[in-house]
Amino acid sequence: MSVSTDRRPQTSRTNVWRIPSERSSLEWLDCDREFVSRRYDRIAGLITLFEWLLFLPRGLRKQAVAHIGLKPGDRVLEVGCGTGRNLALLQDCVGPTGRVYGVDISQGMLARARRLCEQECWANVTLTLGDALEYVPEEPFDGALFSLSYNTMPHHHAVLTHVLAQLRPGARLVIMDAKVPAGIFGNLILPFAVWLNHLTVLGNPYIHPWRQLAPLVDNFAMEERLFGAYYICWGRKRAKDR
Ligand SMILES: C[S@@+](CC[C@H](N)C(=O)[O-])C[C@H]1O[C@@H](n2cnc3c(N)ncnc32)[C@H](O)[C@@H]1O
Repeated sequence: MSVSTDRRPQTSRTNVWRIPSERSSLEWLDCDREFVSRRYDRIAGLITLFEWLLFLPRGLRKQAVAHIGLKPGDRVLEVGCGTGRNLALLQDCVGPTGRVYGVDISQGMLARARRLCEQECWANVTLTLGDALEYVPEEPFDGALFSLSYNTMPHHHAVLTHVLAQLRPGARLVIMDAKVPAGIFGNLILPFAVWLNHLTVLGNPYIHPWRQLAPLVDNFAMEERLFGAYYICWGRKRAKDR
């Protein structure tokens, strides 16, 4: 028997369950930010398990970080940094003279990232609890990363333009995420993707972030992995968008 989470996530109730009908299994309702943060508080301990269950390709995080094109001394922002799974990679790129910033809306996720920073004695990581749309940077960034986070933000387009505004001209913004592959296979698994996302990470499978990023940047590029089930896309902030 399949079950799905409440189809009214805009409300404060989170624990109403029902069997989806054929029709509703294809629906996606955006969740409000409180709902998203509470969901992530609850699943914070399961993130590595999800990575494994959802076949996150090995090396995908490293590749995404490499596409930011960071160098020692740079400042980089991870938007929705979660438990800090990319922090070591970002740290490696910017070195001790650089700085890594992370913002996340979930206290539970960020607590784990903070613990990691303490364990690793990283003095140049600044983590902020809050909505990415309200994030006020301490300095301009040389790069930004959305890693498995873009689709979880109901106001993703506004967040994207907000983050682009915080980059230096020429700096790269990278989005890495899962997606429903194109074609018949994708159409077949779409109801499953909708159901699974409602139940777990709240990533809206109907969003096409690459289509939103492409018109806003220079040198847009994209690559796919695992038969189109994952992708990385990136581009440079335009000089005229100062
Ligand atoms: C699937 S996790 C990915 C975490 C991390 N980037 C990674 O690659 O492991 C998505 C993260 O985005 C965060 N998030 C969702 N909406 C957000 C928002 N409006 N502002 C900041 N973070 C948000 C969630 O709390 C969660 O930690």
